[in-house]
Amino acid sequence: MKSIHICMGSSCFARENRENLRIIEDYLRNKGLSDSVHIEGSLCMGECSRGPNITVNGTAYHEVNCEELISILDKELMQI
Ligand code: FES
Repeated sequence: MKSIHICMGSSCFARENRENLRIIEDYLRNKGLSDSVHIEGSLCMGECSRGPNITVNGTAYHEVNCEELISILDKELMQI
């Protein structure tokens, strides 16, 4: 199963992960992937200075902004 770990630590959350979480949830719903992708909030990943941090299918992404996030999700979740 594909997975997304989104850092909900205070630094990442205060930056853009609050908004990123909403975007991910909308994306999964719109693409019909809500049941096939596991999404989980994580505690501080220890890389606050490089945040907001999101890991998708085991690949860590740093400084993820809202625009970039869509490209990451397309790349990681939509490929066959
Ligand atoms: S709060 Fe996200 S890495 Fe520390």
